[in-house]
Amino acid sequence: MSFDLRTLIAAHRGEARALHGGHVNPKWAKALKLIGFDNEYVRACGQYLWDSAGRQYLDMVAGYAVCNIGRNHPVVQQALGDFLASGEPSMVAFETPLLSGVLAGELKKRVGRGLDRVFFTNSGTEGIEAAIKFARCATGRPVLLFEEGAFHGLTTGALAMNGCDSFREGFEPHPESFRAIPFNDLAALARELARGDVAAFVTEPIQGKGVNLHSAEFLAETSRLVHSNGALLIIDEVQTGVGRTGSFLAIDQEGAVEPDIVVMSKALSGGYVPVGAVLTRTAVWDRVFSRLDRAIVHSSTFHMGGLAMTAALATLAVYDDEQLAQRSREQGARIREGITAMRSRFDFIRDIRQRGLMIAIEFASPARISLKIAWKMVHALNENLFTQAVTMPLMQDHGILCQVAGHGMPVLKLTPPLIINDNDITHFLGAFERVMESLHTFPGPSYDALSRIARNAIRTSSDSPS
Ligand SMILES: Cc1ncc(COP(=O)(O)O)c(C=O)c1O
Repeated sequence: MSFDLRTLIAAHRGEARALHGGHVNPKWAKALKLIGFDNEYVRACGQYLWDSAGRQYLDMVAGYAVCNIGRNHPVVQQALGDFLASGEPSMVAFETPLLSGVLAGELKKRVGRGLDRVFFTNSGTEGIEAAIKFARCATGRPVLLFEEGAFHGLTTGALAMNGCDSFREGFEPHPESFRAIPFNDLAALARELARGDVAAFVTEPIQGKGVNLHSAEFLAETSRLVHSNGALLIIDEVQTGVGRTGSFLAIDQEGAVEPDIVVMSKALSGGYVPVGAVLTRTAVWDRVFSRLDRAIVHSSTFHMGGLAMTAALATLAVYDDEQLAQRSREQGARIREGITAMRSRFDFIRDIRQRGLMIAIEFASPARISLKIAWKMVHALNENLFTQAVTMPLMQDHGILCQVAGHGMPVLKLTPPLIINDNDITHFLGAFERVMESLHTFPGPSYDALSRIARNAIRTSSDSPS
């Protein structure tokens, strides 16, 4: 046997950064080094990662809300091993694969709402591309409405509905048939729909960039408005699905929302095999796949691969068995209570937004004059720097991985695996408290460290790629 994975990994251990610097994405490798996130992880289990020195990290990013059930879950691992050992065929193309039929039924059982057809994809953005095509085909109209601040992926159609300029810049022209409305603005939605050219309104129940929650009535009212104008409602549950917000879908907590299309992905993968699902009403489906010669008019080579279907089926079983929606609600509430209890002591905390284990802590310029100066100084250096000043010591001093919620946002975002336990939460809250105490001491060591990072960033961005 000429190939042995373990030998290959052992032979290259410690080279990941250099390999990426040389062959993959040197800018990313440098950015990670700059913020002290350039660990080489060698093992993962549940909510934890370990680096080559044996240090344990608490993962509060979960691969951007992919690992809801935790990493390397034994049930998914076993199922994937069983699939590989079984000799079952995959990607025959001219077939109706068994496992995708079973998975479609399992998804329909959990989603309901008359969404009776399932199209499988390999990613979230592919699901959004499918939804765009389906909506145009079903309505015969060109326009897709989206919200400012939205993130639906980075392929060209999804990018045209991206509400963040930092992602769009450099990839123009973006088609005019995608129109933005302000976030959570029913009046603007009604105005745009009245133009009569709208195929669909696309929305995340909770925006991933910034963790922005709609007002209580928004989604139900949207559903009514969209349908009374002959358009469709596309709900993007790529990030919020599979229990992330405390229910299977986030819209399960939103009353009478009647989507025509729901897009899922991320956590369905079990953290193992990329997979996505687009659930639609039969009426929509029938307009797209309207004749025998259009039976695969939308398709992709890998879209019902056996390993992906297996990973999703096993993940759904774990989700049920471990009652992860309930866990997400309980543990999310614990984190919120912990942060709320410290809020009066820390002027920098402006807001906490939380639904299940999708959590944002927003920072703002404080009232105290000395801290106001600190805030101004940090923002003058870089608009992302204040939140990096929170994530970096959390990582370096406390072994906790978490992220800034979006470009130019003073928002810390937490999306841990839904299996996070009470000790993890105590660890996180204690660490966050220490970091806040340090940032509320100005001048102080936190601010010296920030100036150093900003200087390094300026030097690094003018370096040649290497
Ligand atoms: C709400 C939402 N939609 C779509 C996507 C795109 O998914 P993918 O990265 O799998 O293409 C993402 C990814 O973060 C997302 O959060």
